[in-house]
Amino acid sequence: MQLLDIERQPDVAAANGAGLPVSGAGRRIFIETYGCQMNVSDTELMMGVLKKAGFRRASGVDDADVVLLNTCAIRERAEERVVGRLSQLSREKRTRPDLVLGVSGCMAKHLAEELLNQLPYVDLVVGPDSYRRLPELIGEAAGNPALDVRLDRHEDYLELDPVRQEGTNAWITIMRGCDKFCTFCIVPYVRGRERSVPAGDVLRQVRMAASEGFREVTLLGQTVNSYNDGETDFADLLKMVAGVEGIRRIRFTSPHPSDFSDKLIGTLAEEDKICRFIHLPVQSGSDRVLKDMKRTYTTGRYLDLVDRLRSALPGLCLSTDIIVGFPGEADVDFESTMALMRRIRYDSAFMFKYSPRKGTVAYREIPDTVPEAEKALRLQAVIAQQTSISGEINRRCVGQLLEVLVEGDARRGKGQAVGKSDGFKTVVFPRNGVRINTFVDVRITDATSHTLIGRPEH
Ligand code: SAH
Ligand code: SF4
Ligand code: F3S
Repeated sequence: MQLLDIERQPDVAAANGAGLPVSGAGRRIFIETYGCQMNVSDTELMMGVLKKAGFRRASGVDDADVVLLNTCAIRERAEERVVGRLSQLSREKRTRPDLVLGVSGCMAKHLAEELLNQLPYVDLVVGPDSYRRLPELIGEAAGNPALDVRLDRHEDYLELDPVRQEGTNAWITIMRGCDKFCTFCIVPYVRGRERSVPAGDVLRQVRMAASEGFREVTLLGQTVNSYNDGETDFADLLKMVAGVEGIRRIRFTSPHPSDFSDKLIGTLAEEDKICRFIHLPVQSGSDRVLKDMKRTYTTGRYLDLVDRLRSALPGLCLSTDIIVGFPGEADVDFESTMALMRRIRYDSAFMFKYSPRKGTVAYREIPDTVPEAEKALRLQAVIAQQTSISGEINRRCVGQLLEVLVEGDARRGKGQAVGKSDGFKTVVFPRNGVRINTFVDVRITDATSHTLIGRPEH
């Protein structure tokens, strides 16, 4: 799963409270989303639940009756940001005591008691398996702080319809939780056991997204390729999704390297709607570290998988996640990570310093030996190397004609539009009246480590 550095609000159509259960009765809610795409998808789900109960979307904190932070617990920094934001919002509450302030998502589960005990202005703490009860919990919170962080191994939010944000990609959660228990990772503890959404419901959601005008869907799960609803595996599901009319691009994230069957690789090769881009987290290039991380593969098996993928899928773009400074990571281990990245030459990578997470096996059993300063140096080195590799790969795209799904105006550069190529590269080009959510062919004329620059060709 890629981490998004986002704080955004889904653009949700205002709900009409008439005829709906009264618990929301037109109250306005604002949700800020932190963390990964799973949380973006959950925010849309919560908006769906709340809309049904008569809540309306606020345009910001100022006109909200309820502010909810949908949080992440993956690293300490993610939690610190939320604590900072909560303390900012607590000042708002001093002038508007009726404002309900809530925390949902992974940090809500991870630090439930601490949040309620140490931050008295928090009214509501709701874990990832309790979103059906959100309207009720908001009602309760008006009197006393409300808490529901129980994990439910059966909750897959069947038959709840998300209110999707505007945009060009529909996130479809196809599985929840994780059973892998990598020793550094908090996710299995805050998201619970792995469970797959029945294929019929996935398809219903994909069709709905297509009818709302989405041309691209991304299937989401912590180990998305271990999807299995008892009858349908991930390869079969991809085939079914590819059959949905109106959908032109299918993406998925994050697959686990140990769950790539030959059948799946065959399906990826057969279906042209499936994008030639895979986010394949490796975490480390040292077998010793991988073992301590309990990643269940060796570098040899990972490299073999990359070879199989690249020969079956010409032009495949790859990205990864890297952790530096895992407990016990010696210089030689770190050098192996650098070497592996040079060998694979990822198109891009998300790189992180190890952050000890209370409750995980690494936290309990493996002392955090790498000093902070050393972690910082390793992070710098790995980023510098990857930036240079990404730049080289991107510059090789100059001259190519790439099909781009237009996302909107580019942040920088007046009159410029931005979109994504099939290989998930960010492409910037003159807008010239091109409409959002359409496909244009862009001739690449220039490139940086992060962006391709081009002009549309008709
Ligand atoms: N299920 C996904 C990972 C989701 S978390 C997968 O296995 O691909 C996204 C990334 O955060 C992980 O791939 C890992 O690189 C990073 N991460 C997770 N726990 C971390 C920790 N304790 N410290 C630093 N980075 C961590
Ligand atoms: Fe965390 Fe590992 Fe599960 Fe990914 S596969 S969510 S890293 S435990
Ligand atoms: Fe995602 Fe962060 Fe939770 S990465 S699953 S929001 S801990």
